[in-house]
Amino acid sequence: MQWKEYKQSCYECRCCPLCETRRNVVFGVGPEDADVMFIGEGPGEQEDKTGEPFVGAAGQLLDRMLSIIGLSRKNCYIANIVKCRPPQNRDPLLTEQDACYPWLEAQIEYVAPKIIICLGRIAAMKLIREDYRITKEHGTWTERNGIQMTAIYHPSALLRDVSKRPETFSDLLNIREKVREIAPKTFEY
Ligand code: URA
Repeated sequence: MQWKEYKQSCYECRCCPLCETRRNVVFGVGPEDADVMFIGEGPGEQEDKTGEPFVGAAGQLLDRMLSIIGLSRKNCYIANIVKCRPPQNRDPLLTEQDACYPWLEAQIEYVAPKIIICLGRIAAMKLIREDYRITKEHGTWTERNGIQMTAIYHPSALLRDVSKRPETFSDLLNIREKVREIAPKTFEY
């Protein structure tokens, strides 16, 4: 199947009950040849309304975090573990994550990033390790299938708890170093 058709079938997905309550499938945004990919948890209310990831309050903070290190939506790809909004913004259930995972897996294969940054524990537990401890392990690097992976606190967590921001700032600087080292074209978009 061509990528365009694949994307279209994702927009019509009925693989889990989240399809019953969604307004829009939030597929992902960014250049489809990006070397850097950010993966969050799942759409919230604003994302469900607009069909774009990270456009609410957490998204505005994410934009500021990216700009600190010279990144932006123009040079990174942004997606989520689940593409439909969990009601009341609850954590996506494992069954929902598993049902949605093949879409993300294909997306990662298609975009073929060199670096993946998980935003928060849900993404880290799905993509890095089931027992990933974000409080202890954020900012550390792991390689998976030739992709450098790390996790930082979710921007929503940083909105709730500003004491986590200094640690995240140093994680961001460390991410900038990694991007300079293995994906310098990112800064040229
Ligand atoms: N939180 C997420 O994890 N993803 C979004 O797209 C928005 C908020």
